[in-house]
Formats: sequence, C-alpha cells, structure tokens
Amino acid sequence: MTDPFEPPAGRRTFASDNWAGVHAEVLEAVARANTGHTPAYGADPWTIQAHWLLADHFGDGTQVYFAFNGTGTNVVGLQSLLRPHEAVICADTAHINVDECGAPERFLGSKLLTVTTPDGKLTPELAALRLTAVGDEHHVQARVVSITQSTELGTVYSVDEIAALADWAHAHDLFLHLDGARIANAAAALDVDFGAFGQAAGVDVLSFGGTKNGALGAEAVITFRPESETGLRFVRKQSMQLSSKMRFVAAQFVALLTEDLWLRSARHANAMALRLATGSTAIPGVELAYPVQANGVFAVLPPAVTETLQADYPFYVWDEVTGVVRWMASFDTTEDDVDAFVQRLAEVMDEHG
Ligand SMILES: Cc1ncc(COP(=O)(O)O)c(C=O)c1O
Repeated sequence: MTDPFEPPAGRRTFASDNWAGVHAEVLEAVARANTGHTPAYGADPWTIQAHWLLADHFGDGTQVYFAFNGTGTNVVGLQSLLRPHEAVICADTAHINVDECGAPERFLGSKLLTVTTPDGKLTPELAALRLTAVGDEHHVQARVVSITQSTELGTVYSVDEIAALADWAHAHDLFLHLDGARIANAAAALDVDFGAFGQAAGVDVLSFGGTKNGALGAEAVITFRPESETGLRFVRKQSMQLSSKMRFVAAQFVALLTEDLWLRSARHANAMALRLATGSTAIPGVELAYPVQANGVFAVLPPAVTETLQADYPFYVWDEVTGVVRWMASFDTTEDDVDAFVQRLAEVMDEHG
C-alpha cells in the first residue's frame, strides 16, 4: 500500500533557487547544534561564532542581526534607516517593490520611488530622477537608495558601480541599502569576497541571504552603524524576526562560512546557469533577455513553447507581454539536469517551429 505521507519525488527544476532543498552540510550543522540546552535569542556560542565569521568578511564594526526570511530582513534593515515621511528609491523590478506584497509600504509606512532600468540596475543618474522636491513638506523625502545584488534580472553590479551609488547617495544625504538575497552568487560571479559589497563599497545596511545559498530560513541584516544609532535589536523583535532558538539559524551560517561552502555552492549554481544559457541559445529561436551574470537565465520564448515546456518543468513567466521566462540554477543543479532540460526545450521548439 502506498504511504499517504510519502513525500513526492522532488524532481529538480529551474523554477527558483528556493525550490531547492537544504545543503547537506548545512543540515548536518543544524543536527550538530541540536545538543543540550543553550541560552535563547542569540546568546549562544553558535550565534557568537557566526557573528565573528561574518565580521571577518565585512570588517570592524559589523553588526549582525539574524532573521527568518528575505522580506522581513529587507523591512527590518530599511526600518533602521527611515522615518515615516522618508522614502526609498529603487528599481521598479526590485523585490521590495514587486514581490513583497507591499510589506515595505505597510510596515515601514514609506513610499517606494521606483525607477525603470534597462537591466535591473540603478545608476546615480537613474536614482537622481527620483530625488526631487527636497525640503518640500508636501512631498515624501528620499532617504534611501535600495539596490539588489545580484539583481532580480540576474545581472550583477560591479564593486565600483556600488561604490559610485554609495558616493552619490551619501553626497545627497541618503543611505545605500543592498538586498543581498543572492549576494553569494554575485560575489562568486565577480570573483570577490562578499565583504566587498559592504562598508568597503559604502553600503550602509544589507540583507545577507542564506536561503538561496542552501540554508533553511536563515538570513541576516548586516549594518556598519552602531546599535545605538539603529536600534536594530528592538526593530527586529518588533518586526517579529527575532528567533528564540537562534542557534539553529546561526549554525547554518557557520556551515556556509566554513570551508567556503557559500562560495562553492554559488560558483556551482552560476556555472549551471551559464551552461543552461549556452545550451538553450544554441537552439534556433531561443534568445536571452538579459546577460547571464549570476545564477538566473532569462530567455524569450513563444508562449506555446512555454506552456508545453512547463508541463514537464515548472518555471515562472517573467513577462507575459514579451514572453520572457526565468530559469534559476541552484547549488544542487547537475549538468545532467541542465542537459535534459535543454534537450526537452529543443524538442518543444521543434514541435512548435
Ligand atoms: C531579490 C530578493 N530579495 C529578497 C527575497 C526574499 O524573499 P522571501 O521573503 O521569500 O525570503 C527574494 C526571494 O525570492 C529575492 O529574490
């Protein structure tokens, strides 16, 4: 008899990097942390070790606040920078704008000032389009520029591009926030340490993503401003992102930051995305919508092809009007997964050709 509680086979797809499971080394670290009693809410040895490991990358003065998910991490980090009449400049494709169900607007009470970009990346010139009515009490006052690394469109800011945005922001009395849900993929792509996207580049607050890098509900707000200025311990608790059994969140970061698991996983995911891009664009009629710079591939497909292919491989349509679809590679994507997908894509393109 079939066990009704038997989990489904869990075939790997390219729908999202959070469709992937948890990296075995991360799960082992959680199991190892499951011993005896230890103080709650972050006063445990794993949290202290993970703070040190992150500070090793980001430098002196790094403040770390672990959280459960990316939306909460963005909201908590941004909250430490804003008063209610202040606003956030971001790309119109930013996760905080399109994929957080309005959580930033609701919980920050702040307006998002969006900008259309060609590739998901802001520049000082683009951000400047929304820095208007400064000092006019009838208008919200821009206070933060928020960027995503790597972006929602799979592109990557160079360290210099981030530094230029930080310089521009600071010169105009603004802060720079970085949504690093895929910070590891960006660092691997540029062959730099992820610490390069912190205070070294002028970033004031960032969301450090663990989940898409193989963790299980483990993210962190990282800032370089002291607790006395940000009040982030209180902001996090009030925002319901303080974990009582923090050691299990922290143990995951210890695993990711030990023996460069974060880098091995991100490099692998990026390499699989590149293989997928190369294989799929070798098929006549398949084109990329954006350059593949991290672990996301955005392709343009005829709608009928998308529909047929989705029956075998679930993935998201990014833009129904243009036919852009998104495929994401993960730490556990294999070359065989990519090749089988490309082969199926070729067949479907042929059928609909
Ligand atoms: C750019 C970006 N930021 C943040 C998040 C975090 O979202 P969640 O609240 O689902 O963990 C995601 C997840 O898809 C993302 O892609």
